[in-house]
Amino acid sequence: MKKNVIAMVGVACMAALLTACTGSGTKTETTAAEQKEAGKLVMVTNAEFPPYEYYDKNEIVGIDADIARAIADKMGVELEIQDMAFDSLIPAVQSGKADFTAAGMTVNEDRKKNVDFTDTYAEAAQVIIVKEGSEIKTPDDLTGKKIGVQTGTTGDIYADDIENAEVKRYNKGMEAVMALTQDKIDAVIIDREPAKVFVKENAGLAILDEAFTEEEYAIAVKKDNKELLDKLNGAIKELKESGELKKIVDKYITAE
Ligand code: ARG
Repeated sequence: MKKNVIAMVGVACMAALLTACTGSGTKTETTAAEQKEAGKLVMVTNAEFPPYEYYDKNEIVGIDADIARAIADKMGVELEIQDMAFDSLIPAVQSGKADFTAAGMTVNEDRKKNVDFTDTYAEAAQVIIVKEGSEIKTPDDLTGKKIGVQTGTTGDIYADDIENAEVKRYNKGMEAVMALTQDKIDAVIIDREPAKVFVKENAGLAILDEAFTEEEYAIAVKKDNKELLDKLNGAIKELKESGELKKIVDKYITAE
């Protein structure tokens, strides 16, 4: 009998301990989750895209990086920026590996099926880079030509639609530009601001006056992450209204 009592007390103690354990365990988890929510945002980008994102020594800088840092500041959270291939960005956001991507990413209907976009923060265009003196003078002249693009970009998507064109895909826009300087391809379709940077850095190249398409950039979040989307949109609105966004753009793009 006495033994039984002890045993019963033992069970009660263990039950009490378990409860205490589960209790504190649950509490710790909640705190960690809360901390993640409140403390840090993970952004993914492809830092091969000046002036929007590129390396300055070991740091990722550029318009998108600065905008994201300003947004994180407004939200009172820390920002971590991870660099990866452009065509891995949307999957990283979809899987929850990253909270959002800011990568000079053009809003389009196909991408909208996989991610949600914030309000747009920049106007952009796909332009055509050729060698100076090229016979390609307008977008129509691209028919049947060898066209270089960065894999998975809108330039890639449009090039694919050009009649009889041979599309050469590169991991980095700069690699496509190098191939053009080496006459491996006839033209590069890429975003206007990076095109300007690349043409400036490489002698003998020109951007055609007529753009291929007009586009707009936005930040992308996981589908239905309305809470983050609303916060980002609120911060973007503030940055636009305060003139801070323009200041960031002016820091990287000098008016010609
Ligand atoms: N605007 C183009 C697109 O959305 C190209 C973006 C490339 N961005 C980058 N960080 N490499 O497809």
